[in-house]
Amino acid sequence: MSNSVFPLITPVPPRTTIVIFGASGDLTQRKLIPALYTLDVEGRLPERYAIIGVARSEFDGEQFRAHLRTGVQAHARLANHDAAAWDRFAAHLHYCQGSYDDPATYAALARQMVALDDACETCGNHLFYLATPPHLYPVIVAQLGAAGLNRRGAGQGDGFVRVIIEKPFGHDLASAQALNAEIHEVFDESQVYRIDHYLGKETVQNIMVFRFGNAIFEPVWNRNYVDHVQITVAEEVAVGPRTGYYDTAGVLRDVFQNHLLQLMTLIAMEPPAAFNAKFLRDEKVKVLQAVRPMRAEEVATATVRGQYRTYRDEPGVRPGSTTATYAAVRLLIDNWRWQGVPFYLRSGKLLARKATEITVQFKDVPHKLFPAGEAGSPHANFITFCIQPEEGLHLRFETKIPGAGMRLRSVEMDFQFGEEFGQTALPEAYERLLLDALNGDASLFARADEIELSWRIIDPIQAGWDAADQPRREAEGWRTETAPPLEFYEKDTWGPPGADRLLAQSSRHWRLTCHK
Ligand code: BG6
Repeated sequence: MSNSVFPLITPVPPRTTIVIFGASGDLTQRKLIPALYTLDVEGRLPERYAIIGVARSEFDGEQFRAHLRTGVQAHARLANHDAAAWDRFAAHLHYCQGSYDDPATYAALARQMVALDDACETCGNHLFYLATPPHLYPVIVAQLGAAGLNRRGAGQGDGFVRVIIEKPFGHDLASAQALNAEIHEVFDESQVYRIDHYLGKETVQNIMVFRFGNAIFEPVWNRNYVDHVQITVAEEVAVGPRTGYYDTAGVLRDVFQNHLLQLMTLIAMEPPAAFNAKFLRDEKVKVLQAVRPMRAEEVATATVRGQYRTYRDEPGVRPGSTTATYAAVRLLIDNWRWQGVPFYLRSGKLLARKATEITVQFKDVPHKLFPAGEAGSPHANFITFCIQPEEGLHLRFETKIPGAGMRLRSVEMDFQFGEEFGQTALPEAYERLLLDALNGDASLFARADEIELSWRIIDPIQAGWDAADQPRREAEGWRTETAPPLEFYEKDTWGPPGADRLLAQSSRHWRLTCHK
C-alpha cells in the first residue's frame, strides 16, 4: 500500500525495463533516479522492473549505483533514506557503457534487455528515456531503430515500447520539424512522450481543475471580464554550469517555448470534451494556433530583453554575448474568448527570488458607485495561481472598512495546498510524469504539432532579436530598430526597467502576490 497522502491513482504495468540514456548526467542523478526511488519506496513500480543506465562514462555497476545514491540522498522527496530501502531499489539498477553512435552499444543493450526480460519469464515493457544533450536525440533514435529496439519483433510478446524525450526539443521551428521527422521514421507518435516537467507540477495541473471542476469561474473567464493575464517564471539562480547550452539558447528557447507557453495554454484553452490526451492536447493546440504571430515591427514594442550584469563574466559565455537571460513578451490570442486581452509573459535568471505565478486580472466595475476611498484600489479583482515555491491560490476583492461612510479596501482570500492537505511535499513532477509514461497516458506530454506551433510563436521574436545583433540581415527586411535594446539588470532585482514600461504603456503593472 502507498503511504503517500497524495495518491497517484494508477495501475502499474508489470515487468518493465526503463533505459536511461545520459545515465551519468545531472538530470539522471538529480531528478530521474530520485523520482524512481521515491516511486519504488511508495510501492508504485512493478515488483519486477529494471533500470538500465547507458552512458559513455567508465563506471562499473557498483560505481554507477554509488553515483546515483548520492543523488537520491540529496534530492529524493522522501526523507526515509534507510539503507534497506536503498538496497532494495539498487538491486534494480544496471549499467551499460558505450558510445551513443556505436551499434555495439545497442547490441550490448539489447542483450542486457533480453536477459532481464527472460529473468521476468516473459517479454516485458520497454521505456527509453533520452536524457542526453539534445544533439544526440536523432543519433540515439536512429540507433534504436537500427537495432530493432523500437518495436516488438515477432514472438517477442506484446509489451509496449515508448520513448521519453527531454527538452529542448529543437532550437527553432525548422529543427523541431526535422527532429519530429527523424523520430517518426523510427517511432509512431503514439510511442513518443515529449516531456515538459512543468506539466507534472501539481499546482499546474490544478489550473485545469480550478477552471473545469468549478462552475463559478468559467463564466467570467473571457474578454468580457478579464483585463489581462500575466505569467511570471522568476528564478533566483544564475545560469550556473550550463552556460555552454544556455549561451546558444537564451531565455526564449529555454523556458518560453515550453514552460511559459504551456502555462498560457492551460489558462486560455477551451474545456475539452473529455479528459484524455487527445482532447486535451487538441484544445491546447487550438490556443497556440490562435496566438497572433508577432510581426517584425512589433518585436521592439511588444518584447523586452535583458541580461544580468555579470553574465558575460561566467565561464563558457562567449565574449560580448547578447544572449538574453530575461524576457518579457506581450502576446495576443485571436479567438472569440480572448480577442484584445493581452497575455504578458516574463521570465529571468538571477532575479530577486524564485516565483512562479499566474495572475488573471479582471476589469474594473463598469460603474463606480462608491467614492474611491483612501485605500480603495483600481484593478481590484484578480486571481493568482501560485505555482512555486508557494503553492496555492489567491482571490482579491474589495470590502468595506468597518465604520462610518463607505470606504473600501482590498482583501485577499487564500488557499494553500500545504495547509489543506498537510505539509508533506507535493509529488515531484518527474514522479508523476514517469508514472504516466509507464501507464501510457500522454496527456501531460507535448504532441508533435504542439511543439511546432510553439516554435512558430517564438521564432519571429528570436529572429527580431538576432537581427538586431547582426545588422547584416537588414537586407532580409530586419532593421535594428525592430528589436528592443538588450538591457542589463542587476542581481536581486525584478529585471530591466523595460519590463515595467511594457505594462505601463497601457497603465498596467506586474503583480507578485504569492509570497507573504
Ligand atoms: C528548465 C530550464 O527547463 O527549467 C532551466 O532549462 C530552468 O533553465 C528550469 O532553471 C526551471 O524549472 P523549475 O522547475 O525549477 O521552475
